[in-house]
Amino acid sequence: MPTKTIGFIGGGRITHIFLKALGSRTLPPETATVSDSQPEVLSRLQAAFPAVTVTADNRQAASRDIVFVALHPPAIKSVLPEIRDCLAARTIVVSLAPVLTFQKLADLLGGFSRLVRMIPNAPSVVHAGYNPLAFHPSISAEERAEIESLLAPLGQNPAVAEETLEAYAILAAMGPTYFWFQWQALRRLGDSFGLSPADTDSALEAMLRGSVDTFFHSGLSFEEVWDLIPVKPLAGQEAQIREAYETSLTALYARLKGK
Ligand SMILES: NC(=O)c1ccc[n+]([C@@H]2O[C@H](COP(=O)([O-])OP(=O)(O)OC[C@H]3O[C@@H](n4cnc5c(N)ncnc54)[C@H](OP(=O)(O)O)[C@@H]3O)[C@@H](O)[C@H]2O)c1
Repeated sequence: MPTKTIGFIGGGRITHIFLKALGSRTLPPETATVSDSQPEVLSRLQAAFPAVTVTADNRQAASRDIVFVALHPPAIKSVLPEIRDCLAARTIVVSLAPVLTFQKLADLLGGFSRLVRMIPNAPSVVHAGYNPLAFHPSISAEERAEIESLLAPLGQNPAVAEETLEAYAILAAMGPTYFWFQWQALRRLGDSFGLSPADTDSALEAMLRGSVDTFFHSGLSFEEVWDLIPVKPLAGQEAQIREAYETSLTALYARLKGK
């Protein structure tokens, strides 16, 4: 079977992550075409991936066999009607955005329904992403297997029901942003306490991995896990932090679901 050509409409963060992670494993860079409205985004991408074709013309990227739509929902609404007549009968369009359902995407594409939706997450850059996928019924089992094999180097790519994708956007796609700044704060503290950066990072990494294993795999209840350490220096801020999760993330979920 000849190698499929791949288009990316939008050359921002997630496209960079895909190109880096899939790289020579399943996506030879010379088969990829990326379009973006920002010349600086395209030149940055070209410098990082010299074999990729870059263009300001979204229709060029849309003329490939598999087309990833790596745009935010408002841009998707304006771009899809512009590219719909470039899509061949064999094309598969993969949207990486929350909010826009198969029904809305198909409406914007004049009824074209060879669609996949995916909610990627950034740890895909080190092949450790959790990237749920939903397939429109018009995608055959063989095409589904082909997409899964293309995306395998990103990490875990479970097939899920379409209506759950926004929940995964909150839990998995945006999840790292709830934690990374806190780890960086601890890293700075390690430095201020006189540890070398390498010693700080070794301690933090081991602590985080061990905490994950204890939380998910110790067989202890949450109350038992929480009680393992009696001294909790951030206890005074805990209620505020829980409240921030509940208020901000509940409101965001409602927005993503159009409620
Ligand atoms: N990054 C992640 O970890 C992640 C995770 C899950 C889902 N996603 C989804 O992936 C999609 C893209 O996210 P991203 O993080 O890659 O965003 P991003 O870094 O902002 O990249 C989007 C790119 O598309 C460009 N663009 C805007 N309008 C365009 C148009 N009409 N034609 C061509 N290019 C256009 C943007 O330019 P401007 O800056 O000028 O707008 C920007 O360079 C979103 O739907 C997001 O929800 C991302």
